[in-house]
Amino acid sequence: MSKSNVSEITSPVTIDIQDNIAIIRINNPPVNAISQVVRLGLVDAINTLNATSGLAAGVIWCEGKTFIAGADIREFGKGPLEPLLPDVVLALEGCSKPLIAALHGTALGGGLEIALGCHYRVATSSAQFGLPEVNLGLIPGAGGTQRLPRLVGIELAVDMITSCRRVMTSEALETGLIDAVISTDLLSGAIDFVKQNVLGKPVPTVLSACKVAMDAVDLDKLEAAVIRRAKGQLSPLKAYESVLNSGSLSFEQGMKRERELFAECLSSTQSAALRHAFFGQRVISKIPGLEKVQARSVDNIGIIGSGTMGSGIAVAFVNAGFNVTVLEMTKDALERGKQKVSGIYEASVKRGKLGQDESHRLLRGITWSTSLDELSTMDCVIEAVFEDMDVKKQLFSSLDKILKKGAIFATNTSYLDIDEIAQSTTRPQDVIGLHFFSPANIMKLLEIVQAEKTTPEVVASAFAIGKRLKKTAVLARVCDGFIGNRIWSRLRQQYEYMIEDAVYPQDIDRAMKSYGFPMGPFAVYDLSGLDISKAWRDARKESYLSGMRYVGLPDMLCEMGRLGQKTGKGFYDYSSGNRKGDIDPQITALVDQQRSALGITPVSIDDTDIQLRALAVMANEGARILEEEIAIRSVDIDMVMINGYGYPAWRGGPMFEADQFGLETILKEVNKMYNICGKGWEPSSLLVKLVDTGGKFSDFSNSRINKN
Ligand code: 3HC
Repeated sequence: MSKSNVSEITSPVTIDIQDNIAIIRINNPPVNAISQVVRLGLVDAINTLNATSGLAAGVIWCEGKTFIAGADIREFGKGPLEPLLPDVVLALEGCSKPLIAALHGTALGGGLEIALGCHYRVATSSAQFGLPEVNLGLIPGAGGTQRLPRLVGIELAVDMITSCRRVMTSEALETGLIDAVISTDLLSGAIDFVKQNVLGKPVPTVLSACKVAMDAVDLDKLEAAVIRRAKGQLSPLKAYESVLNSGSLSFEQGMKRERELFAECLSSTQSAALRHAFFGQRVISKIPGLEKVQARSVDNIGIIGSGTMGSGIAVAFVNAGFNVTVLEMTKDALERGKQKVSGIYEASVKRGKLGQDESHRLLRGITWSTSLDELSTMDCVIEAVFEDMDVKKQLFSSLDKILKKGAIFATNTSYLDIDEIAQSTTRPQDVIGLHFFSPANIMKLLEIVQAEKTTPEVVASAFAIGKRLKKTAVLARVCDGFIGNRIWSRLRQQYEYMIEDAVYPQDIDRAMKSYGFPMGPFAVYDLSGLDISKAWRDARKESYLSGMRYVGLPDMLCEMGRLGQKTGKGFYDYSSGNRKGDIDPQITALVDQQRSALGITPVSIDDTDIQLRALAVMANEGARILEEEIAIRSVDIDMVMINGYGYPAWRGGPMFEADQFGLETILKEVNKMYNICGKGWEPSSLLVKLVDTGGKFSDFSNSRINKN
């Protein structure tokens, strides 16, 4: 293997010879990412294949659970490390002997580009194929935008590349992405394929020499779909441009332009943000202090309450293969719960996400009961009852008498004090918060809330549950609203202040949508119901909100019966049937009236001011959350906001964005807010300290959290 600067590292690429076929074996765990040593090894292997007259063909095959899952993302930003991947793929394509990619697991990004450089592709029936670079703010950079459309056509290439959709083996075979499915052992099947279909035939024309048919493609429609999906992200549009070049430019010109566009994307802040989100998504389950802690075995789940949350939670668990028992206090409530759960499955069947038989099988997997005793054998019980401290305490006290030793007591509360709930049992070490987001069977976020006495073993078990549910689980500690709702409610207060001082609901919605949120906040409030946030305010008027600036407008709307979409009017008017809501002159007049009653002369602020104010609120509250040890790292907060609140992933989350923006500017804005709003809006001491020391949120970690 190569005598380069990395020669001291044992090469992850080796060659075995079977008959006259070279088996080029890649072993670079965990996902065979194509790092520099792999690229060097591949080039050496191709040179060997070309130079050895006794060798007639080569099979590229990977050890472990997957074929190459892409370029090594950790190398991005380190400058070019030779040999570059596009050159490696060219070397494969130009090999004088036929090359066959034997694919299993997930052939993604640079991995699929390697396969496209080979002359044949064979795969297991469970393999998946994709070019997900756009998820990292990139475009395929090793010929993917040029070779894929030449193989499967423009439309499928645009779809796969701009949506990051993975194609399964059956579709891959149908569309010509692969040549054969191997139903026996992959390597021996690939060798048989070579013997039967490859040897003795000329090496097929390489993909780069093929033409792309553009005539039948409706480019306007294709482009509109890409723009719609991009939602402010730039790389899908650049990827689209590059794929289209495959139809209008020569392969060499197309490759040159692909490289330029890839480099532009790689140096963009959007890509840095998305790479932060990629690693963030994986880092959040690494909890300092829990590395060696064994999770309890959890299979039998009891869910108490089958309202919107309880039924969604039940579906999430059943879908993940847990044994689920749902408990309600009365037969009527149980019946309503059954209907809710059936409704969720019927909707999935209607959307084509689930077959009818499968939905029936899953439904049958739930045991329904009105007897608390039924839960005595559960490994974990999750309560999803009304948000009332006394109700929850009574329930946990009853469960304490019934649940087996070692069972986990989980509460789905979204803000109540879990330490207080835990005190109602004799085993507070087994009590934890599992805060799901609605609809719980769909939303990815799960806040795992560790109370004062929760043991690390129970925290580890909660993360194991989250993993099995395929949720993005983030650790939080007890406080009002935990991480997400705490930040969100602060943000809401500032939006209301801005309405009183400066703008109208539609201005804030426009600004935040153009920032990248899927919906404006006032449209969200109308959707969830203004009575919900009124209940939150009413519960805190005597405590948290006492002495703080208070905006009366939302309460006035509730008194007028304007509770949002469900009553036909809220901040917007839905009576015309427009689901997005029409701007209502009555609200504009009400805002003006409030301002003059309070003697406020509106100031002028634009979208950028609104966006900066929102970012500063989130960063300041996030900083408090860190200094109070509610979250471990700033990336945990970012992942909560991205996965639960629609924060655009291509901005990396509010803490990442604040770091990029400059904490000094953020602090200046926070001080401005404090001057306008007074009590409760003081800058976080962590933010002040980081500005003083030139630090960043990303440098900060509460590694003490699991040392209790
Ligand atoms: N580079 C570096 N590390 C990677 C990686 C990659 N491409 N893909 C995964 N990893 C790491 C993860 O960070 C994780 O590390 P950790 O254990 O230290 O946290 C480890 O591999 C395992 O990853 P997952 O936890 O995600 O494992 P799963 O089994 O759940 O998923 C996967 C496997 C589907 C392959 C998933 O990891 C994935 O989607 N990876 C990214 C694929 C991708 O985006 N490829 C394109 C890269 S860009 C590119 O190829 C550019 C080219 O066009 C030039």
